[in-house]
Amino acid sequence: MKYAILGAACLMACSSHALAASATRAGFGALSDGSKIEAVTLTNAAGMSAKVITLGAALQALIVPDRGGKKEDVVLGYDTAQEYLTRPNYFGVSVGRFANRIAKGKFSIDGKSYTLSSNDGPNALHGGPKGFDKRVWKIDSVSSGPDAKVVMSYVSADGEEGFPGELKVTATYSLNEQNELRLDYRATTSKPTVLNLTNHSYFNLSGNDARDVMGNMVTLNAARFTPVDATLIPTGERRAVAGTPFDFRKAARVGDRIRDARDQQIRYGRGYDHNFIVDGAPGTLRPAAVVTDPVSGRTMEMRVSAPGIQFYTGNFMDGTFFGKGQRSYRQGDAICLEPGVFPDSPNHADFPSARLNPGQTYLNTMVYKFSAK
Ligand code: GLA
Repeated sequence: MKYAILGAACLMACSSHALAASATRAGFGALSDGSKIEAVTLTNAAGMSAKVITLGAALQALIVPDRGGKKEDVVLGYDTAQEYLTRPNYFGVSVGRFANRIAKGKFSIDGKSYTLSSNDGPNALHGGPKGFDKRVWKIDSVSSGPDAKVVMSYVSADGEEGFPGELKVTATYSLNEQNELRLDYRATTSKPTVLNLTNHSYFNLSGNDARDVMGNMVTLNAARFTPVDATLIPTGERRAVAGTPFDFRKAARVGDRIRDARDQQIRYGRGYDHNFIVDGAPGTLRPAAVVTDPVSGRTMEMRVSAPGIQFYTGNFMDGTFFGKGQRSYRQGDAICLEPGVFPDSPNHADFPSARLNPGQTYLNTMVYKFSAK
């Protein structure tokens, strides 16, 4: 069944004034075990729409006009729900409990040690083999304008994937008429725990052109980043970007320095796969990144509340993944910008804390604003 929910603003003033953003709910097929997946599409009058599916609370499609008004999908993903499980690449998904890596899958809280499965060489990655990206979330509410909004929730049992505490999580996506897509991750826990929730969208602002992102211009408001070892675990150092291929304080072409193997960090990451320390005070929403595709004119400006942002250029995509419309995805076909605490934070006392205690509410907010120039 497909139905539209009209916002009060629209019911009162639909004909002559700007339309309020609307939310529609529809089926998105089923998994091979029969579980039904749903999709909520948020649409504004400015030509943007965002489709979020209940599998992994994932952003499955994001339609953005180019400078000529042409509406195209700017995120990678799959056409069917089951592919998100059989060919996982974290396309657009909500990642948890712990986005990015935990060294050797080990950490401790108040002297008690915990061991997670290692699903990325020696390390634990993105919450483990069955993280939040592979769970079916519930739709809590769907509402229309002035911001179209969907709230999805997931309850993670105490001990799930090795993490302590029952964790209640919500992902709230909203779209307004200023072409801002906002995402808020909230969580509460029954026991002290660690978490790092983020969204793992792969952006390719060229839309249907499917050009790689090497010609995209990127700005990162980060004077420092956290260098990693060969298994992509931070060494603990906070290194100045000045004079390195990691200096994106002024807009720079992604491809210009991505092959500069004189920098050991580029070798370890196979390109960019690093956490940048976002300038300014964590906890306040502040500008973190700008991505521009000069050909289509599409620009994405990102504001985040998190202390860090992982900049990843799809280095593990090798042409064996076929996404929406049977498009083959290759290295450098997308940009991921994943806001969160720093990787492996639970094992670095001087990194911003990943700890959540009972009675506290975790919040990680990211806003993606689109325009075309
Ligand atoms: C993150 C990691 C990458 C890779 C992707 C998913 O961005 O930092 O190394 O694991 O997720 O493929």
